[in-house]
Amino acid sequence: MADKAKQLKHIAFIMDGNGRWAKKRLMPREYGHKVGAETFRKIVEYCRELEVEAVTVYAFSTENWKRPENEVKAIMSLFNQYLDFAIKEMMEKDIRIIFLGNKSVFPPELRERMEKTENDSKNNKYILNIGINYGGRDEIVNAVNECIKDGITTITEDDISARLYTKDSPMPDLIVRTGGEYRISNFLMWQSAYSELYFTDILWPDLSPKDVDDAVNAFKNRNRRYGGV
Ligand code: FPP
Repeated sequence: MADKAKQLKHIAFIMDGNGRWAKKRLMPREYGHKVGAETFRKIVEYCRELEVEAVTVYAFSTENWKRPENEVKAIMSLFNQYLDFAIKEMMEKDIRIIFLGNKSVFPPELRERMEKTENDSKNNKYILNIGINYGGRDEIVNAVNECIKDGITTITEDDISARLYTKDSPMPDLIVRTGGEYRISNFLMWQSAYSELYFTDILWPDLSPKDVDDAVNAFKNRNRRYGGV
């Protein structure tokens, strides 16, 4: 186990590669998401063991609605199943769940369950942000609109930061992307300004605690200068 990484307060994951993982096994993409959802639970549990203050995952982007209807349905169904047990598990582990993204697109009963989960866990110490209908640009536009609603005429960086969906989390120290692509894909656009990026070819369903250790160890060897020398 990576020794408890005190310098690492927030780790974020772009969970990529579910479809290819399934294809390699001649299985439908939906199966990759099912196993990916199990990996998600395992990795969250492991980050909790490491006592990382905040974990963020990119589960469904504002662009993912363009996927075939069956696949969107399968991901939403996994998300619904996750909500069934999430609250009990999160209360036991002292984890606060926050959904990042515009919830207004979801059916009212799903939205209510999401809000109830957030509300019931709101006093827990560790944060789990789940990006669902999340887009980094959408988040910034939303924050700017909130500033306007609040009557701010000259907007500062702090004004925006205070209105992001992730406002309760520190800025991400480390962003891990699985699946061998080297891009950010509209994830944490504002927050990633000084994040360390870690890319691995491992497909998300295969990601293990040992791989998280590798990412954390790579992070510890980085020299973070935040624009200084
Ligand atoms: C990217 O892989 C993955 C997604 C768009 C969905 C991620 C969803 C889960 C891990 C499961 C559901 C989540 C929760 C919170 C229960 P891809 O499909 O783009 O893979 P590919 O690049 O190999 O096609």
